[in-house]
Amino acid sequence: MARVLITRRLPFPALERLQAAGHELEVWPGELPPPPDELRALAANADAVLCLLTDRIDEALLDAAPGLRAIAVLAVGTDNVDLDACRRRGIPVGNTPGVLTEATADLAFALLLAAARRLPEAAAAIPNEEWRTWEPARWLGAEVHGATLGIVGFGRIGQAVARRATGFGMRIVSTKDTELPELLATADFVSLHVPLTPDTRHLIDTGALARMKPTAILVNTSRGPVVDQDALAQALHDNEIAGAALDVTDPEPLPAGDPLLSAPNLLVVPHIGSATTATRSRMADLAVDNLLAALAGEPMPHAAA
Ligand code: DGY
Repeated sequence: MARVLITRRLPFPALERLQAAGHELEVWPGELPPPPDELRALAANADAVLCLLTDRIDEALLDAAPGLRAIAVLAVGTDNVDLDACRRRGIPVGNTPGVLTEATADLAFALLLAAARRLPEAAAAIPNEEWRTWEPARWLGAEVHGATLGIVGFGRIGQAVARRATGFGMRIVSTKDTELPELLATADFVSLHVPLTPDTRHLIDTGALARMKPTAILVNTSRGPVVDQDALAQALHDNEIAGAALDVTDPEPLPAGDPLLSAPNLLVVPHIGSATTATRSRMADLAVDNLLAALAGEPMPHAAA
């Protein structure tokens, strides 16, 4: 029997399989992530951890948890985990690839459409009593059909976004076969689908934003720090690009006074790319598969690279 620390309440049936296998679950009861010192204290006696992307799994935590034999992240991105440190200690780390591809691509496309057609402003106009009549030149947006979509990162999610874009009659360029500067200069919409690594941090910086068309819209469903947010706020204020739609920010959540929030033509949603009932339940399935395998001394079926 192993002691498994779960860092948030997860209402998914997969967890019952851990109990059925005889493992003892300790679930952090808070609605917010455990503070780092609490997390370290809880992990001290754990054999395995099922964590979220909001939990930092670093050297300090690993030092405090000498018995740890498995870490499962309820996400495909594992930038919250020091993978090198885990590797050095022989602790396998698993993630949840594949099962959230379509839901995340749907959200990227929803953001693209909402920003292109100015849905947040148009919807807000109704409770604000600004809908006076049918106005020929109000709430004019950008055409999606026939536009060029630049996909940065052509992995599973980038390809799923491309499939949707094809259905909308868009032309697609991607970093699979086009250099980033050329893609940025060509695209009417730029959608980001790269993992967060030292190489991709601030990939979209002042220079990259300057290369984009003044009519272009940036969509980010990857990780907040892939975009230099100060540079983005400036580019929006200066009308250097036409808009941005973000599922992810740096930090998360964005503090109320963050300068980005006063930028024009900005749509932000609270990191909901994978937030469908079915997808989150499948993510829990994969996380539990990873833990059960590792605790049985087998390789994780979904080991993080
Ligand atoms: C992930 O899995 O990395 C997403 O950001 C959350 O589902």
